[in-house]
Amino acid sequence: MRLNKYIAQAGLASRREADRLTSEGKVTVNGAVCTELGYDVKDDDVVAVDGRVITSSEKLVYYALNKPVGFITTVSDEQGRPTVMDLMTDVTARIYPVGRLDGNTSGLLILTNDGKLAYHIAHPSQKVWKRYLALVTGQLSMAELNRLKTGVDIGGYTTKPARAEVVKTIGRNTLLQIEISEGKNHQVRNMCKAVGHPVLELQRTAIGQIQLGHLHEGGYRKLTPKEIEYLKKC
Ligand code: URA
Repeated sequence: MRLNKYIAQAGLASRREADRLTSEGKVTVNGAVCTELGYDVKDDDVVAVDGRVITSSEKLVYYALNKPVGFITTVSDEQGRPTVMDLMTDVTARIYPVGRLDGNTSGLLILTNDGKLAYHIAHPSQKVWKRYLALVTGQLSMAELNRLKTGVDIGGYTTKPARAEVVKTIGRNTLLQIEISEGKNHQVRNMCKAVGHPVLELQRTAIGQIQLGHLHEGGYRKLTPKEIEYLKKC
């Protein structure tokens, strides 16, 4: 079995993340560092990640986190900035975030050690709708709102149809609810900027049927069996 698949099936990382760990020299096979991405794991090979021997028997766990602004969506940060892992204080499993939220975006983030599920949800072919509340500057005309819905050029790429509605005006600004089915970098911020209303604050409130609900900022909870089942099927 290919090395990245072996690591993913052990529940340690998505395949892409496994390739990164391998390139960084964090993976050993039979005690020797293996940086060969296409290495074919044999039945009697002993594979370790970060010095820890992996098997495919780690219990799979699934969490929803309400990420506060100021935390980076990564397992570790070279510059020592706070990461979402710092918030998962009593989780011992080697979980990692599924997808990404900008440092200055808050809201729902799923973390798991189920590499297969993480790969499945994050894959561009998957159409899992993600819902956001965006506080933007000014007030939008119908034409601007329609552009958000039908597709807007965000620097050489036209976004796919989205859902967008005004929740309320707050002083001179507007609270929008936006739902997108893709996940380009800074997509919501770039969409709003492209129609002339830059984002002041951004929060993700749902990933498909998984809701942020009343989880307090920095708080996390286990996904329910029904939610896990949903993610596996979507
Ligand atoms: N869109 C953005 O612009 N930022 C995020 O963090 C998520 C979606």
